[in-house]
Parts: sequence; C-alpha cells; structure tokens
Amino acid sequence: MPPSVDSCLLVILGASGDLTSRKLLPALYERHVAGDLPAETRVLGVSRRPKSDREWREDLAASVQARVENFDRRRWDELAPRISYQAADAAKAASWGGISERIASATPGGECGNVLFFLAVGPELYTPIVAAIGESGLVSTERRACRDASIKGWRRIVVEKPFGTDEASAKALNRSLAAVFDEEEIYRIDHYLGKESVQGLLALRFANGIFEPIWNERYVDHVQITAAESIGVEDRVAFYDRTGAIRDMIQSHLLQILAFVAMEPPSVFAPDRLRAERRDILEAIQIPRKDELETTAALGQYGPGPDGVGYVATEGVAPGSTTETFAAMRIRFDNWRWAGTPFYLRTGKRLAAKHTEVVVQFKAPPTDLFRTLSNASGVPATGADRLVVEIAPRSRIRLRFLGRAPGASFSLHPIEMEADAGGRGGAAEPEAYGPLLIDAMRGDQSLFKDREEVEASWAAVDPLLGDGSEVLRHAIADNYVPGGWGPDAAHELLARDGRAWHV
Ligand SMILES: NC(=O)c1ccc[n+]([C@@H]2O[C@H](COP(=O)([O-])OP(=O)(O)OC[C@H]3O[C@@H](n4cnc5c(N)ncnc54)[C@H](OP(=O)(O)O)[C@@H]3O)[C@@H](O)[C@H]2O)c1
Repeated sequence: MPPSVDSCLLVILGASGDLTSRKLLPALYERHVAGDLPAETRVLGVSRRPKSDREWREDLAASVQARVENFDRRRWDELAPRISYQAADAAKAASWGGISERIASATPGGECGNVLFFLAVGPELYTPIVAAIGESGLVSTERRACRDASIKGWRRIVVEKPFGTDEASAKALNRSLAAVFDEEEIYRIDHYLGKESVQGLLALRFANGIFEPIWNERYVDHVQITAAESIGVEDRVAFYDRTGAIRDMIQSHLLQILAFVAMEPPSVFAPDRLRAERRDILEAIQIPRKDELETTAALGQYGPGPDGVGYVATEGVAPGSTTETFAAMRIRFDNWRWAGTPFYLRTGKRLAAKHTEVVVQFKAPPTDLFRTLSNASGVPATGADRLVVEIAPRSRIRLRFLGRAPGASFSLHPIEMEADAGGRGGAAEPEAYGPLLIDAMRGDQSLFKDREEVEASWAAVDPLLGDGSEVLRHAIADNYVPGGWGPDAAHELLARDGRAWHV
C-alpha cells in the first residue's frame, strides 16, 4: 500500500510564470478530477507582479481550460477557491514576514500543517530563495516546535531543473539546500520520470521474466535513446543560448531514461532502492577524456531552413554563439552488465519529427545458419532483432525479428509486433507533473533525484561543456539542415562503430 497523500499547502514560488500556468495548475486540476488530491489541499502562488486572488484564478482557469482534455467548469470551481496569490519578492528575506503570515493562514492544520514549496523561478533564484526560507524560520523553528509537539507538520521543497549548470554548481546548490532542508525533504524533479511511458520501462524490464536474462552486454549490441524535437528555440532564446541541448536535455531527461534502461533491478520497488540503483548506474558511466571527445560526441546548430532563420541568426542569440541545439554522445559503462555495450544518446531541435524512443538492438545469432542459401540470408551483422520503446508522441513497444518470407524457396524477412504500451489507445497521457506532485505530498521520493544522482549525471557531461569542448564546437554554426536528423558528425559517431541510427 503506498503511503496516503497528506493534505498540505502548496506554495508555488514563481506563480506568474509559464511552468505554473502551463504545467503545474493543469496537473493539479487533473489530479483533483482523478480524486488524488485531498480536499483540504490549498495552493498559494507567490511572484512579484501585483494580482488579486480573483485575477490569478481567472488567468489559471483560462490556461487550464486550454490545456486539459474535457475541461469541466464545475470541477474547476471546486478547486479555484482553494487557490490564492501573494505578490512578493521571494528572494528577499524581508518579504517572508508577509509570506509567512499567508502561509500560516492558508495551511491546512495551521502553523504545524504541511507545506510543500515549489521553486518555479529561474535557477539563479534558487539559492537566494532557499536562504530566505531558511531565515524566515518557517522550516526549522516551527518544524522543531511541531516535532516537539509530535505533530506531523512536514516541510518539503520541490526544485525544478536546471539543477545547476555543471557539477560544481550542482554541488554548491546541494550545499545551499542542505543548509535549510534535510535530504528527505528535498524533491529534485525531472518531469520525464512522471511520464507513464518512461515508468513503463521499469514495468517492461522488471515485471516480466523474458527480458532481464538477455538485458546485458552478452545479447545487446547497443542501445539508442533519442529525444527529438521538430520545433526550434521559439521564445526561449535567452534561456536556451546560455543552456544548450546537453544541459537542457541530456544531463537531465536522457540520463534519467538511460538510468531506467541500464540500472540493476532493485530488490524491492521502494524509493531508496530505486534511487540507489539509478545513482549506481550513473556513477558507472565512463567519463570521457579530453582527447576522446571528438570520437565520443557530436554537437550541432541548425541552419536556415526554407521557413526561417538558422539558430545563430536568431534574434537574441549571442554573436558567434557556440551553444549546441543538437547533441549526440556515446556512453560506456564500467560495470559487468554493460561493459562493451555502448549507449548512444541524441537530442536536438528542428529535427525531422517530435520523437522520443529507446532502441535496444540485439546481437546477431552466434552463427548465421542461413549463410549458404542462394538468395542470401539478410541477417545483419548487428542482428535483426530490435526492441523499440516509443515514449512520444505515442507510447508503444515494437519488437522486430526475422521470419520466413512467403514463397517457394526459403528466405527471411523482418516481422514486427506492436503493442499499445500506454494502454490509452494513443490518447494523451495526463500531465507528468501531477503524479509527481502527489508523490511529493505522500513523501515518496522514488521518482526524484537524490544529491549524488544529480552530481553523477553532471559529472558524465561536464567534459562536453568545459573549455576542452572547443574541439566539438569550433565549426558547429549551421552544420545541420532543419527537418533532418542532425549533423553529419552524429552519423559518423555511429558509423565509426559500424552502426547507424534507427531513424
Ligand atoms: N516552463 C517550463 O515548461 C519548464 C519546464 C521545466 C523546467 N522549468 C524551469 O522552471 C523554472 C520556471 O520556469 P518558467 O518557464 O515558468 O519561467 P518564467 O515564465 O520566467 O516564470 C518565472 C516566474 O518567476 C517570477 N519571479 C521572478 N523573480 C521572482 C522573485 N524574486 N520572487 C518571486 N517570483 C519571482 C516571475 O514573475 P514576476 O515577474 O511576477 O515575479 C516569473 O513569472 C525555471 O527554472 C525553468 O528552467 C520550466
């Protein structure tokens, strides 16, 4: 039985932003309709611009209506009165007198009730806001008093990505958080882990007996993980130009998917065991040396297409920017299960399609029995059997293998089996933030990253970001055409190993 969901006050810091209106409130509405949200749950939004409770609720209603399927005004009207707004600069300790008063009056259970902070502001504000929360006494003083009185009164904080910009800054942020919150109160969120289709990887691997015996270097030739977007940087230019594809996608989402694909089975499906296994596999990644970078990774920037300007010519992009809009890298592990099996990660903007998938390519049989057939067997050197777990836009699993082709003489042809992995018949999944918020309210950290996990994932990509990465960046401007699958260097990365990208 999972622990029950505690009623709490959700304090969203950065309430007037995009994340809150596009993701968090639609997610809460969906959880309310699904009956997951305790009736006493309250929401307090904090950001600087002045707004009344009524104005904020109206903004949110419009945004939720635009984003959820089958919006039901009646159900929204049940939730809306529980939502309030406070205009304040959360990074200033002086603001927290007023914020604390609102928190005390809005928290179910009063001063000793449960409070879930959500950092939905730009990452440069995480440390000052956490310090201001610390100074407010909201976390330590009251919590201690409540603990002494044996009242639950938990305080937790959800921290959005980006969690730092490299290993050193992630460590510094971890230290700032640890100065105010205990590790079991910190929820480092990656909404990819809230996606049903990503969690489906765990079910596929560990709820079945047929995959694990062959899920290793002996049978798997290589694994590909792709998260492709068809859109460009759009209105996120300022953020993107100082971030890039490695920080935005690989260090977080792709390495989390990788961890689910590559980790050892935990002995039991429990938060600390799952996190320990994810951490272990990320710590087993071989960190590329500087002299290996050119054969380990490929970066790119999209050029001008028929329908628009290229990345470097986009308004707001720094002149001569070497920020990558495409990144591919090969990962090798120092562990028994995967020694010798490379994992290839790839992500980029303005690619041929919006598409996220994991491809597990199996090895060829030990010998090609059909090699003597006059019409050639067609068994490829890397094997024909391939398991594709599609995460977006549809959640489905496809298994390809060779079978006998129709006809009088014996020959082979590929056959593919397909399953609707999500069980939703192609319909959209619920907003991934919803289940994660519910997990935070029940104190389940399974799908949140711990301190070491986040530091290990930065360590894996740091060499691609630092000074030495110039070798990958010096000629990336306009090096791939929009609508394709990235720069030549990404294809060469696999071709050098005798392989090719699945799409
Ligand atoms: N948007 C997404 O889909 C998404 C996805 C994943 C991660 N994230 C991360 O989530 C965070 C928020 O993203 P976002 O897209 O929502 O950014 P955003 O649209 O810029 O919103 C941030 C909000 O923070 C408020 N703010 C700024 N300074 C503040 C302060 N001192 N005190 C209180 N509020 C303050 C601003 O409103 P005022 O000007 O009114 O204060 C602003 O609306 C970022 O770290 C981002 O990287 C976002």
